Amino acid sequence: MQFPYFSKNGEILPIAQANIPLASIEYSYGFGVYETLKVRNGIIYFVAQHVQRLFTSAQIIGLSHHFTKALVTEYILALVKQLESSHASYNIKMLLIGGSEPQLCIMALAPYFPDRKLYSEGVKTISVHYERLFPKAKTLNMLASYLAYKQAKELGCYEALLINRSGNILEGTRSNFFAIKGNVLLTSPAEDVLEGVTRQTVISVAQKFGFIIHETAISLVQVAEYDGAFLTSTSSKIVPIKQIDDYVLQVPEKLRELMKAYDAFLKESNGIFSA
Ligand code: PDD
Repeated sequence: MQFPYFSKNGEILPIAQANIPLASIEYSYGFGVYETLKVRNGIIYFVAQHVQRLFTSAQIIGLSHHFTKALVTEYILALVKQLESSHASYNIKMLLIGGSEPQLCIMALAPYFPDRKLYSEGVKTISVHYERLFPKAKTLNMLASYLAYKQAKELGCYEALLINRSGNILEGTRSNFFAIKGNVLLTSPAEDVLEGVTRQTVISVAQKFGFIIHETAISLVQVAEYDGAFLTSTSSKIVPIKQIDDYVLQVPEKLRELMKAYDAFLKESNGIFSA
């Protein structure tokens, strides 16, 4: 999938002009934050939440810049308008790099759609001990997450779950984690993980669906006590987990129903969510 344009500080430019300044220490040391949002059938999903999180992430790492939320939203809409005729479903990545001249690049990327079989059967995961430096920020400091994900792939798994020093499952390298027990959904407290936009919207749908949400530490060694577990992320929505290391999990019927309810919510939402 080729996207002919990208946006640099609000200016739409040919993609051939997208480059990384090699001498920039902010680029090479990763002083930046990013966001991934999705466009599906021409609808941009949850722009306000993603723009807000970009700003929160920048604030957490002390990255100052002159952009406003209204401007960033305008830049996204302008790029989508420019690309509209050629593609209806893709992801948008926003990359905000700090320094004396902060740079905001917005580009379209080919989306990853997990195989249908993964949604019905569930995915295998591994556990990896790692705590992100700024858990609430989506920063460029992704080496450990990259390596954990690479290890998962090499073992034929879909995702690596990050385990903290207390032995609790925090989140995936690029997803949030939930466990199910009866009508209770357990997930790590928001202050310990990236507050995924999918996490927020799934919680809202699940509450309306009759689930009770319990934000709590989830111990890896107690995983056998749960009826099931799943991952959430922008691109893949809700993905059931069938295995964590050697432990095999079932995909409960209630989870399948929640997945359907979430798909219905996405259709009806028109890309807008208000908590
Ligand atoms: N990753 N936790 C982490 C560490 C993540 O990197 C992500 C998203 C999530 C889920 O957030 P959301 O529901 O807003 O996508 C949780 C994106 C997809 C990425 O790395 O591009």
